[in-house]
Amino acid sequence: MTEQTGDDAAPDDPAPDVPGYPDLVERIVNLSKRRGFIFPSAEIYGGFRSTYDYGPLGVLMLRNVKDAWWRSMVQLRDDVVGIDAAILSTPKIWEASGHLDNFTDPLVDCRNCHERWRADKIDGICPNCGSGDLTEPRAFNLMFKTFAGPVEEDATVAYLRPETAQGMFVNFLNVVTTTRKKPPFGIAQVGKSFRNEITPQNFVFRTREFEQMEMEYFVPPDEADKWFHYWLDERMRWYLDLGIPETKLRLRHHEADELSHYSTATADVEFLFPWGWDELEGIANRTDFDLKAHAAHSGEKLEYFEQSTGERYVPYVIEPAAGATRTMMAFLLSAYDEDEIGGETRTVLHLDSRLAPYQVAVLPLSKKDELMPLARQVLGLLQPVAVCDFDTTQSIGRRYRRQDEVGTPYCVTVDFDSLQDGAVTVRDRDTTEQVRVPIDRVAGEIAGCLRR
Ligand code: GAP
Repeated sequence: MTEQTGDDAAPDDPAPDVPGYPDLVERIVNLSKRRGFIFPSAEIYGGFRSTYDYGPLGVLMLRNVKDAWWRSMVQLRDDVVGIDAAILSTPKIWEASGHLDNFTDPLVDCRNCHERWRADKIDGICPNCGSGDLTEPRAFNLMFKTFAGPVEEDATVAYLRPETAQGMFVNFLNVVTTTRKKPPFGIAQVGKSFRNEITPQNFVFRTREFEQMEMEYFVPPDEADKWFHYWLDERMRWYLDLGIPETKLRLRHHEADELSHYSTATADVEFLFPWGWDELEGIANRTDFDLKAHAAHSGEKLEYFEQSTGERYVPYVIEPAAGATRTMMAFLLSAYDEDEIGGETRTVLHLDSRLAPYQVAVLPLSKKDELMPLARQVLGLLQPVAVCDFDTTQSIGRRYRRQDEVGTPYCVTVDFDSLQDGAVTVRDRDTTEQVRVPIDRVAGEIAGCLRR
């Protein structure tokens, strides 16, 4: 028997009738390419196997997703600290964690067209040619193997981490010693992970290189259930607060036969993707599995010593594990809309201002010399409080449309009246309402409207 990976191990739900645009994924893929969110990697060489590059707007938005997570999970708490562990890692870590043995997907080959598939995803029929002539499933380990150093031999084998989590477990003692934190406390990390997925698909939903946002929350064993439920609530709240509608978000508890090798309870935060409900984040009770496994393999005592009672124990771990790149895709999908303004259809991303690549666009009405110095002065006032675009090309109407399409909440237009009255026009993306604001108040007013 092979063991499925944590991500996406759920039985396929029948795709519900998803309201919205029938070709929404395609629209997001096109918009991402056209406006510089996400490009297919190595495109000039014909692309490279489901890898993607984040462009000027994508890098801003992805950073905003990660910053929003960090703010809620680390900055606004006094019980969680961060780390940034190495991506290249010794096989010893993955032997102890169970990934060398268990981190596999069941791989089958179609004997007719020679395509390869994940057996648990295809109901015995090749999706490419319809043949039922498939090989027996065999366990395929998803970890990327490489060599650290110039010699390719067993002694130099290294792995690219398939999850950020183990970096937190192997640093447990370092963090306890240096921070004097006591359970319940957490260690958080955001960074790249790598899985040699058999069938990467659906744009950046499942890729071989992706970013995770994970937190390991160490608790006294008898409090594990309480904290598991606490984190289910907290994590649902995070997505709702950043604008995912309640109708597109749900929690799904795993059945016993779906659980990863380390978990006694797991629930997924699921988003209603155009193809149906699918996972954004897994929240798991990992018990004391990882700390005990690393203690056994390393010989180090990975315990907590409670001075007040003289008690030693191995904490249990509650882990909210989210995907940053996948979550960014969900935010794009749920923000996308087309509406009619003044008899014209516009595309708009109703992104929360904390996620939008630009919070403000400064638009001088004309490129004429008289307006530019004042427009640059306004830009200079706004840049310390918001990420700004400065767009001088084409008609003002077109520039509004372009900003709507990438989700910029506010446009600030500097016109010829501004030279006389010292004020600018501030336009709201969602209502398209325009108000006149004195230049010396514009940064303060916009800062007051942007959410933190
Ligand atoms: N440490 C536990 C863990 O890694 P997981 O459910 O396998 O759990 C957590 O992964 C999250 O990482 C997933 O919910 C998903 O958002 C993201 N993720 C996993 N594999 C991914 C992939 N191939 N492409 C994009 N995101 C992925």
